[in-house]
Amino acid sequence: MSSTVDDSDAAVVLPIGEDDLRRVHREVSRFRLRYKFAIDQVATKIAILREEFEQTYDRSPIEHVRSRLKSPESLFAKAGRRGCGTSLESIAEEVLDIAGVRVVCPFVSDIYWIRDMLTRQSDVTVLEVEDYVATPKSNGYRSLHLNIKVPVYLSDRTEHVPVELQIRTIAVDFWATVEHDIYYKYEATVPSSLLAELSHAAATAADLDTRMERLRDEVRGL
Ligand code: GTP
Ligand code: MG
Repeated sequence: MSSTVDDSDAAVVLPIGEDDLRRVHREVSRFRLRYKFAIDQVATKIAILREEFEQTYDRSPIEHVRSRLKSPESLFAKAGRRGCGTSLESIAEEVLDIAGVRVVCPFVSDIYWIRDMLTRQSDVTVLEVEDYVATPKSNGYRSLHLNIKVPVYLSDRTEHVPVELQIRTIAVDFWATVEHDIYYKYEATVPSSLLAELSHAAATAADLDTRMERLRDEVRGL
């Protein structure tokens, strides 16, 4: 065993050789690439729906769209937690949020409009729906989660690749960002006073969403 107490890269002894390391790196990169393409597919679908809606109704049903490809670190960490082994095939079966797309909408009705428009497309397969808008989580989190599969056309085959889609309002997105940061800072041991404040803020965000939708409907009816 090395007695070196040095944090530099030179002190790291890897259990595999350089060639194997290069091969693993190449395989993981190839594996992740199909998820990047799946994000591109979904982003294009959303961009088309958005532009068409804007042309028709003179407003946007989407405030912004964000996407993220899970890093190899968090991918393998999740696979470890799930106990699904280290083969890329078993990770692909178990981890459905390697590709993530978040759509942020002005109104709650926009969330369901986007869901309807996407899920009725013939090349979109819905794997799972978690409707935290209809049934909020106990902390007040409200968001529609869809696990879908979309085709990715590669040079020699078509892959059907899962994407986790989160659709939420601007008010909830604001809340969820702050809530996430607080959890990250306190590493899940959030003081009860903060939890109470967060719960109150979640109720305020939900109330704002209801009011804004009602106001919008009133103006529409004029
Ligand atoms: P996964 O397989 O990890 O997706 O487990 P799950 O299906 O139980 O998770 P869920 O679909 O509830 O949540 C997935 C993602 O939604 C998280 O990684 C967060 O980005 C977001 N999310 C879920 N719950 C909360 C919450 O309470 N607060 C915030 N800020 N984000 C949340
Ligand atoms: Mg989920």
